[in-house]
Amino acid sequence: MKYRAIVVLLSLSIVWAADQPQLEPLTGAPPHPPDNPPSQAKIALGEELFFDQTLSGNNRRSCGTCHKAELYFTDGLSRAWGLNESELSRKTPGLLNVGWQRSMFFDGRVKTLEEQVSKPLENHQEMDLDPAEAAARIQADPYYVRAFAEAFPGEEISFALIAKAIAGYERTLVSYDSDLDRYLLGDAEALQPAAQRGMELFTGKAECIRCHHGPLLTDHGFHYNGVPERDGHGAPGTKYKTQSLRDAMRRYSFMHNGLLMNVRQVIEHYDRGGSAPAGFEAEIRPLNLSDDEKSDLTAFLRALNGRVNRLLDHAPESPDAFGARTRPGKPKAAAPQPADGAAQDPSYLNR
Ligand code: HEC
Ligand code: HEC
Repeated sequence: MKYRAIVVLLSLSIVWAADQPQLEPLTGAPPHPPDNPPSQAKIALGEELFFDQTLSGNNRRSCGTCHKAELYFTDGLSRAWGLNESELSRKTPGLLNVGWQRSMFFDGRVKTLEEQVSKPLENHQEMDLDPAEAAARIQADPYYVRAFAEAFPGEEISFALIAKAIAGYERTLVSYDSDLDRYLLGDAEALQPAAQRGMELFTGKAECIRCHHGPLLTDHGFHYNGVPERDGHGAPGTKYKTQSLRDAMRRYSFMHNGLLMNVRQVIEHYDRGGSAPAGFEAEIRPLNLSDDEKSDLTAFLRALNGRVNRLLDHAPESPDAFGARTRPGKPKAAAPQPADGAAQDPSYLNR
């Protein structure tokens, strides 16, 4: 009898262990939809389009205005900066490893990268250009007519093709080979002792792994982790997508609304069990971490910074690895001069 009980308990614990969320290294290339396979020509074209201000109503903004390559595809601000000198309600997420995300935006309202591309154009605070007008502008440009013919032979230029090219480019933005990746792949020296202690906390006492696990350190799910909403934006208790923690220490503000400004504030937020207003309950609880534990957890978060790369080797024609731009690029027209006295976007927003 007793023996039977032990066997049952043992097998139960094996099932339990297999179900436990794990840390996993990130390897390989993001999946692409069957109707949008990558190619060198498409990726190069997508890169041009991503940084082209032609895709905005005032010809002064591109995707790269907010997703700046040199800032890990964020904007370095607490929240995104809209047209008409307005601060938007959400922060600009970085786009590294976005090809592995299973939904787009902090509320996951869009499922694929291809589908996402039209949204900032249609948004009057972001790029403010009818996608059909964007396609017409591109069709009228002989440089793009040639580039599209190369990337999409025999197809007519449309916004859907613009979106495919940009999505193809975004799938090349990857960051791996972090200290944690190397540790998980067998290099026991890759994690400093503080980061190793932080990993114990992350997967144990601090319970971060409940939601942040797998190669991207996210369950791809939606939770309420007790971040307060800014006045007038969002209902209290709203669930948001668990953010990937890869390269999290390279972000300039944290959480969907950029309310937390540094890693210290993030750790304090979790340590106190969030800041849910009365009547709402966050899906986390107070942790009572000591100062040493907080700095160990921080060391672990730093070990999630990867090596930033352009993944060009999954484009079939170019087996030879990472690189910068693949073509000389579209010759840039002289920047239009604003009319006298007209307000100009601050220079850090122009690219
Ligand atoms: C005004 C600044 C701004 C511009 C311009 C902009 N974005 Fe964004 N981007 C944001 C913000 C803010 C969010 C988050 C919005 C939300 O969750 O509601 C976002 C979210 C995204 C996401 C979702 C990422 C994720 O992890 O969920 C992708 C992909 C993206 N943008 C790509 C683009 C592309 C492609 C363009 C150009 C066509 C572009 N963005 C133009 C600010 C901007
Ligand atoms: C109940 C699920 C859950 C748990 C447990 C959890 N998180 Fe989160 N985490 C989230 C969600 C959801 C978000 C996104 C919230 C938002 O956008 O407002 C998030 C966001 C973050 C961010 C911000 C990323 C960014 O770029 O803005 C960091 C950093 C973070 N979590 C670290 C941790 C750490 C460290 C722990 C353990 C102490 C932890 N999380 C535990 C669900 C969770």
